[in-house]
Amino acid sequence: MTKPVILTGIRANNDLHIGNYFGAMLPTIEMAKKHTDGCQVNLFIPDLHSFTTPIDHDNLQDQIMHNARLFVASGLPLDNDDILIYRQSYVPAHSELTWILDCFTGMGEMSRMTQFKDKSKQVEATPDEHVKEVSRELFDGGKSTLMLDKLSQERVTVGLFNYPVLMACDILLYGAQYVPVGDDQSQHLEFTRDIAGRMNKKFDNVFTVPYEVSKQHEFFGKGQGLRIMDLADPTKKMSKSADSDKGVIFLTDEPDVAAKKIMSATTDDLANVSYNPIEQPGVSNLLQILALLRGQPLDEVEADCKGQSNYGEFKRMVADEMTNFLTAFQAKLADVDDTAIHSAFKRSEARANEQANRTLHRVQQAVGLRSKD
Ligand code: TYM
Repeated sequence: MTKPVILTGIRANNDLHIGNYFGAMLPTIEMAKKHTDGCQVNLFIPDLHSFTTPIDHDNLQDQIMHNARLFVASGLPLDNDDILIYRQSYVPAHSELTWILDCFTGMGEMSRMTQFKDKSKQVEATPDEHVKEVSRELFDGGKSTLMLDKLSQERVTVGLFNYPVLMACDILLYGAQYVPVGDDQSQHLEFTRDIAGRMNKKFDNVFTVPYEVSKQHEFFGKGQGLRIMDLADPTKKMSKSADSDKGVIFLTDEPDVAAKKIMSATTDDLANVSYNPIEQPGVSNLLQILALLRGQPLDEVEADCKGQSNYGEFKRMVADEMTNFLTAFQAKLADVDDTAIHSAFKRSEARANEQANRTLHRVQQAVGLRSKD
């Protein structure tokens, strides 16, 4: 019998931050350690997803290796055959299955994805240099905003539009049932379940369907999905592609730089520490971060800090925890051995290709691209 698969991917479009760490990387690695014998764990680098929004392509190879080192520094064991660490583009079945599933996905379905809506707004709002340059040359010294808008829209790519289909394929190719992701990816997980269910109905059970989001939370021992907010604007998610780094704590931030970001985090004027994300988003976010850093349940940490009126002292406590965490993490990162990563890639990519090709072949047979012998 095949083992249940726990799978997650983290894009290599920028350095990783504490939201990526606590939202996806750590839960996956904890599961990998806990279920060493009972499960297969896939932690992969979705390199094809990395340029759904603009990146520096000359830097992508370095970024991929850097992310793999972060996985290892976070505790991912490399010496277990059931733990796979691989680069998505080294398993061509991901792209092939995406084309097939694209043809069973509605335009309307994709346009309802909130990530697409948010990210496309962001790309439109920050036209890259090339777009600005062309616009300046062609139209009115760059004053023609209408044209600029039109050109900027060209930057919202088809790749950004249909990346949930690629993400669904990343999951379905391995029959993964458990997919630890942050709250922002829940809608994509639901889409994965929808498309898998639809294909199963039409073609007689070609896919294993991942568990629904609430079951996933249960399995990972959480009440709900995690969403760490930006420290400077706690109404927005902490994001790798944020306009400013002020509110984002990267895993490679100098510990004192990270401490300063916490000390200048936006709070409120209620002078009362309590967990209330609607009325006090900044303070609640800091409480959540503190709980994660301490590895303690949120309600316990809230009980410890409740009613504290001096936000400076409260922030200092969070900043100190963060400094300790980053110092220890970065010491582990400095010790990571690249040779071990390269051999883990080789072993894992061979195994991933075998498993993914088996699923792809089943789907190709189902849709009539291969004979059913
Ligand atoms: P990505 O690379 O944007 O983010 C990686 C993971 O980090 C989580 N995350 C957060 N969690 C809590 N608080 C935050 N502020 C925060 N920001 C990010 C994300 O939810 C995610 O789990 N499409 C995916 C990558 C992907 C994938 C997959 C994931 C590709 N294929 C298959 C799972 C399964 C993405 O863009 O994640």
